[in-house]
Amino acid sequence: MSSNQLDKKAQAWSALFSEPMSELVKRYTASVDFDKRLWQADIEGSLAHAAMLQAVGIISAQDLADIQRGMAQIRAEIESGAFEWKLDLEDVHLNVEARLTQLVGDAGKRLHTGRSRNDQVATDVRLWLRGEIDQLQPLLAAMQRALVSVAEKNVDTILPGFTHMQVAQPVSFAHHMLAYVEMFARDAERLADLRKRVNRLPLGSAALAGTSYPLDREMVARLLGFDAVTQNSLDAVSDRDFAIEFTAFASITMMHVSRMAEEIVLWMSQNFAFIDLADRYCTGSSIMPQKRNPDVAELARGKTGRVYGHLTALLTLMKGQPLTYNKDNQEDKEPLFDAVDTLRDTLRIMAEMVEGIIVKPEAMESAARRGYATATDLADYLVKKGLPFRDAHEVVAHAVKVGLQRGVDLSELPLDVLQQFNPAIGEDVYEVLTLRGSLQARQVLGGTAPVQVRAQIERHRQRLG
Ligand code: ARG
Repeated sequence: MSSNQLDKKAQAWSALFSEPMSELVKRYTASVDFDKRLWQADIEGSLAHAAMLQAVGIISAQDLADIQRGMAQIRAEIESGAFEWKLDLEDVHLNVEARLTQLVGDAGKRLHTGRSRNDQVATDVRLWLRGEIDQLQPLLAAMQRALVSVAEKNVDTILPGFTHMQVAQPVSFAHHMLAYVEMFARDAERLADLRKRVNRLPLGSAALAGTSYPLDREMVARLLGFDAVTQNSLDAVSDRDFAIEFTAFASITMMHVSRMAEEIVLWMSQNFAFIDLADRYCTGSSIMPQKRNPDVAELARGKTGRVYGHLTALLTLMKGQPLTYNKDNQEDKEPLFDAVDTLRDTLRIMAEMVEGIIVKPEAMESAARRGYATATDLADYLVKKGLPFRDAHEVVAHAVKVGLQRGVDLSELPLDVLQQFNPAIGEDVYEVLTLRGSLQARQVLGGTAPVQVRAQIERHRQRLG
């Protein structure tokens, strides 16, 4: 289509059509309002395609120069806001192409040789997503660094570790922060892995069957920095696995953020009072003057649902599609765009907030003390004195019962009382019953002993640079 013909698409697609598209259909089928976001990838892809068309002798050097000149102007127009996006031209691809033809004439009309919007859009989305992935990786690293920096200051801060939301055993607060570092490290790994499958070039598949022009696909891949070219044209134009994989990664990462957000909300509640957040991350209430709410953490938790929704949308979008391209695929963009935006903003704000949390070590430690967090240590002590573990477990249950009756911690029970439970208990038991003694004892690799935690911090520091 010439730009003139493209402009007339409002009236009819081609000579084949006897009447124009209805207004409603035009609005319903257009995607330019959202896919114009792909404009840079679209221009980049077209320039590589044009350079290849020239290299294999399909267009002239003059055509290529005209296309390059036109695209440079279009780029400037879009950047300055002067570009006029037309709904009549349906999508980003047709908008750019029509303007190009307006600017440079026949060379613009030759650009689409050996290409279809089907392989073009698949290429554009991959190029765009690759760029976003490369901006997300540093954010995942920044999140890990923020957590490591909190950990560094809190190796000796004692937190009650929970199972079933009941006090279980004392842990180093740093150890707890590093648990999240592990999660985000896995996310970064997943992202690097899926990038390999994003970074393959569909261009050359044309509408679905490939093309009769002698295209040099490897050259286009090289120009655009793709690692490989796709190997089946039918698959290439219809595959959206890469978008689904990305959204699955985003969902898992948001799930990690959400667990952390949930803990921040709990810890900040007066009933825990383990941490505080700087005022700039809190909001007040319009009715209750005393309130400082952790809205950012709550929203991060809430936005996780929205990203899961995008994953479900994309999986559902693809499940019933016969090969090859179907217009359904146009619906891949908004979920993918929003998944990227939501994840990016969430990582950015949560990393900043985490780095600034105000830790209240006394509150954490006294909560650990109240919860008989060293009961397992007493059992282990008895095992070292020769009792089978199951018997030791039973003995300690009796001791905790007496502690509860008297309203004291195990470490506050006098030796003669403890000895009534088992005569093997000696003066050295009090060392074991302290929170710090409990931490020190967990020397196993991956355990919460401060020496182990410091080694992990060092490992992460090396890894994250
Ligand atoms: N806007 C379309 C999309 O996002 C571009 C491809 C259109 N191809 C077609 N044959 N109608 O999928």
